[in-house]
Amino acid sequence: MIEVKDLVKSYGTIPAVDRVTFSVPKGSILGLLGPNGAGKTTTMRVLTTSLAMTSGKVTLDGFDVAEQAHEVRKRIGYLPEVPPIYGDMNIISYLKFVADIKEIAPEKKTNRIGEVLEMLDLENMSRRLIGHLSLGYRQRVGLAQALLHDPDVLILDEPTRGLDPKQSSEIRKLIKSMRGQKTIILSTHILPEVSLTCDNVVIIDQGKVVAADSVENLSQRLAGGKTLEIEVKGPGAEVEKAFGKVEGVASLKLLGKETRGISKFEVTTDGSAEAREALFQCVVKNKWILYQLNPLGVSLEDVFLKLTTKETAS
Ligand SMILES: Nc1ncnc2c1ncn2[C@@H]1O[C@H](COP(=O)(O)OP(=O)(O)OP(=O)(O)O)[C@@H](O)[C@H]1O
Ligand SMILES: [Mg+2]
Repeated sequence: MIEVKDLVKSYGTIPAVDRVTFSVPKGSILGLLGPNGAGKTTTMRVLTTSLAMTSGKVTLDGFDVAEQAHEVRKRIGYLPEVPPIYGDMNIISYLKFVADIKEIAPEKKTNRIGEVLEMLDLENMSRRLIGHLSLGYRQRVGLAQALLHDPDVLILDEPTRGLDPKQSSEIRKLIKSMRGQKTIILSTHILPEVSLTCDNVVIIDQGKVVAADSVENLSQRLAGGKTLEIEVKGPGAEVEKAFGKVEGVASLKLLGKETRGISKFEVTTDGSAEAREALFQCVVKNKWILYQLNPLGVSLEDVFLKLTTKETAS
C-alpha cells in the first residue's frame, strides 16, 4: 500500500508537484497519466527516494519515504525514465552487478538472474553487450534490474517507451501478470495503456491532480450526457427534424451523407432511457426503419484531453 499525501516538490520557487494526494491499494496497478512536464517523473523520483520532497508525506507499507529511505528502497523496484544501464557490460554481468548492489544473497543470485532473464525473454541475449542492444531490449534490461530483488512495489516510468506494438503488448502482459502480487505504479502518455493495464488512474497536469478514480468510473463519470449513434432508413432531412423535436434530445449531428436512403446521426441525449425509447418510437411512428441505435462510449483519451486542455476562447 502506497500513500501519498499533499506531496510538494519545488524547483526554486516553482512547484513541479503541487499538493498531490493519492493512494495505491496493495496488489493493484495505478496509471500516472499526464502530458509532458506534468510532474510524473518528479513524483516517482520522490516515491523511490531518489529525490527529496519539499513537503508532504509519502509512506510505503507504513515506511516513511523521507525518514526510512533504506527500508523503502528494499521494497521498491524502479525503472527510471533513463534506465541505469551500462553499455560496456553484457546483460548477465550487469545483472550480477545489480544483484550485488541490491544485496541479493550469493546463493540465490544465479537462480534469480535466470528467472528474470526468462521473464523478460532475454535468455538468448544474456552475453550481448548492452550498448549493442536495440532500444526495446535495453528497456527490458531496465525492467530486469527493477525486478531482480523481487520487490513488493514496482515504480515504472514509461515502461513501454521505445517499444514496438508487439513488445509493448508483451511488457503490458508481464505487468498485468504481476497484479495481486505486486503493487505497481506506471507512468505513461499512452492512453490505451492505462485502460489496458491499470485498475486506477491519477491524471496530473502542471503538478496537480486533476482526476483520480478507477479507469472504469472515470470514463463513465465524465461521459456526461449520453451520446447515441443512430442509423435510420428514411428521408434524411425529415428524420433530422423529427429527432430534433424528441424530448430529451440535446443536440443532433448528421454523420456523413445519406447512402442508399440510410442516414447516420450522432445524438446527444440527457442520458435517460426515456430519450432512447422516444427516439425509437419516433422512427416507428414515421414508418422509417431503424438500423442501429448504439450508445457511444467515451474513451479515456477524450477524458484526458478534456481534463488537461485549457479551454481557449474561440
Ligand atoms: N532538476 C530540475 N530542475 C528544475 N526543474 C525541473 C527539474 N526536473 C524537472 N523539472 C521541471 O518539473 C516539471 C515536471 O517535470 P517531470 O519530469 O516530473 O514531468 P513528466 O510528467 O515526467 O514529463 P514527461 O512526460 O515529459 O516525462 C517540469 O516543468 C520540469 O521542467
Ligand atoms: Mg517523465
